[in-house]
Amino acid sequence: MKLITNVLLAVSLLLLDGCDQSASTSIVATAPTAVAAGNLSSGSQQFAAVDEARMVAATAEPEQWMSTGRTYDEQHHSPLAQIDRVNIKQLGLTWYADFKIPRGQESTPLVVDGVIYVTTAWSNVKAYDAVTGASLWEFDAQVPGEWGVRACCDVVNRGAALRDGKVFVGTIDGRMIALDAATGIKVWETDTLIRHDLSYSITGAPRVVKGKVIIGNGGAEYGVRGYVSAYDIQTGALLWRFFTVPGDPSLGFENDSMAMAANTWNGEWWALGGGGTVWDSMAYDADLDLLYIGTGNGSPWNQDIRSPGGGDNLFLSSIVALDPDDGSYVWHYQTTPGETWDYTATQPIMVAELPIDGVQRKVVMQAPKNGFFYVLDAATGEFISAKNFAAVNWATGIDQTTGRPLENPAARYDKTGKAFAVQPSSAGAHNWHPMAFNPDTSLVYLSAGNNALVYAYDRSWDPNPLVSNLGIDPAAGAAELGPNATADLPSGSFMVAWNPVTQTDAWRIPGAAAGMLATAGGLVFKGNQNGIAAYDADNGVELWQSIDTQTGIVAAPVTYAVNGEQYLAVVAGRSTTNYYAPDYSRLLVFKLGANTQLPPPIAFTPPTLNPPPSSASAEQIALGQNSYQDSCIICHGDVGNSGGIFRRGLFPELALSPALASPELFAAIVLEGARAQNGMASFAEIISAQDAEDIRAYLIERANITKQAQQLQQQR
Ligand code: HEC
Repeated sequence: MKLITNVLLAVSLLLLDGCDQSASTSIVATAPTAVAAGNLSSGSQQFAAVDEARMVAATAEPEQWMSTGRTYDEQHHSPLAQIDRVNIKQLGLTWYADFKIPRGQESTPLVVDGVIYVTTAWSNVKAYDAVTGASLWEFDAQVPGEWGVRACCDVVNRGAALRDGKVFVGTIDGRMIALDAATGIKVWETDTLIRHDLSYSITGAPRVVKGKVIIGNGGAEYGVRGYVSAYDIQTGALLWRFFTVPGDPSLGFENDSMAMAANTWNGEWWALGGGGTVWDSMAYDADLDLLYIGTGNGSPWNQDIRSPGGGDNLFLSSIVALDPDDGSYVWHYQTTPGETWDYTATQPIMVAELPIDGVQRKVVMQAPKNGFFYVLDAATGEFISAKNFAAVNWATGIDQTTGRPLENPAARYDKTGKAFAVQPSSAGAHNWHPMAFNPDTSLVYLSAGNNALVYAYDRSWDPNPLVSNLGIDPAAGAAELGPNATADLPSGSFMVAWNPVTQTDAWRIPGAAAGMLATAGGLVFKGNQNGIAAYDADNGVELWQSIDTQTGIVAAPVTYAVNGEQYLAVVAGRSTTNYYAPDYSRLLVFKLGANTQLPPPIAFTPPTLNPPPSSASAEQIALGQNSYQDSCIICHGDVGNSGGIFRRGLFPELALSPALASPELFAAIVLEGARAQNGMASFAEIISAQDAEDIRAYLIERANITKQAQQLQQQR
């Protein structure tokens, strides 16, 4: 992942400084893909020349995609209409750029004046000529690989922000970095973390509002306290910080809103962090001058452990409106009071004008994990309406006067002490994937799913900063309810066109979860397992599917225009089935009439299930299972069943690991950090040599059970 191209950086800088041409040209010759600044195909000399006025007026510049949601209101909509329902069949690949950085790619590209800026896994940044795909520069954030173990859901990055000639990126290890947009050279860097002994991480795109770059963080699975910080875009100086949950009362509260929030908590919540991390969504409304942030789940998930006796636990799972000048609280709406199921409200927030009871109103919309679609008044946070867009059983609905959920008491496993198959699961009915709004159809397009998870109280829970701190026990849940507890509940992912005024769906079709784009061409674009497709915005009919991209697409596409020609750009990359499958992560750019082909796929033989025989005692296997569930399942998942609790295929399936046959190799990886640079840190701090052997015994047992099941199936 260390791909820094110092040569390119040096070249661009030399050229910008107007240095001796022959010297810089000779260096360019060693790096043939480099484009000299000023030779952009767009004819522009400008790099990220976005100031506040230009950003506020972004609607008037359909050619650009200057911020993650294109405009401050985060509608992910483009007024470009050159590519339309009729000519979409002629859309083909015009260029692509390989990242050569394995792991998940979730970034929304930014495009200004003919330059594309994109972030990749491990928080690196790349810039390309938007017409030709020529590389302009690359920046390697030099994230220490072992920090990867502190990110619950892969070392992804969802994008950059641009302002006044700079590119801003937050890094997995919690830094905010400003780069010169022309050269990719670092201008300043600041540490956003309040503690380094806890597992904070940054995966979200920063937003720039009125001279400040604003960023939150993740880590609520690991016992952290959530907050957002605003930094001066010129200097990196901290201007304000808003905590989303109250801290230790004996130290005094940072502000009145923390004192108010503390009344909704019990016990010694601060000792466990509390959670509420702002790991993705923000939106801004320039007329109201309000910044909206979405807050995350409780830490730990189990509310009875976190805040014994209950309470709403503000500001978990909420949309909070802040004054962007000083970060002070203006209003909040909590989607899941007393959250206990990992129901984050960090999902994309969108501002729009809608006719509500015949009156045009500016609203904030969100479809958080809990399965309900919310419409709130953007100025006051007043509840307007909510309706479930996916199958839910934790609540029967939302009280239309109070805006509070009508809860199903059985879903509160932490209160009842009984396991329950809750719908949606912690994966959420909708996750981080950007949704899109089309003002012509007045529909919101989002990709969502029906899913369920058995939640059961973890009676042997102990806080630990290195591993997940959930407070639920999947094994106890399975023992109590049996292995098929979720089998009869609705499942499967889909794309839905949601009418936010009537709170009903206009249409709905099956499809994998991915970010959305809506265009004035009457189209909706969304990635899938092997490419990207376009749908008719009116009825969901599929009008176009791209060539096979050799890897899945989960990131949101964008569209832009240079020299009068419209382009579609999207980042591809996730290994869908196997961690060790070849990496095809790349930026793909399409236009009408193009037909560039990708190189043929790399031959790959997936590892086979061939564990050593299982000879350990039942007792040792049980001990190993416990340790595994405490420390490893969050990434490596249910052994023999691949994936993690959160993501599938992004981490190795340990049933297949050659290390199962070698205690030395296993210990080297698990205790000595032999694979730390790839994100598998040493667990020696919490795992003893005996624990490691117990875990290995458990893995071998599980691998053998899986192998027997496979053999039985083959015989049938
Ligand atoms: C935060 C995520 C995360 C957690 C938690 C985690 N791992 Fe890993 N693990 C990884 C990644 C990423 C790799 C792949 C490293 C590579 O590509 O070399 C890996 C690789 C491994 C491998 C080598 C796999 C192979 O194919 O040979 C073993 C063995 C392993 N982990 C064991 C464990 C054990 C045991 C635990 C719990 C004590 C654990 N891991 C916890 C992320 C994690």
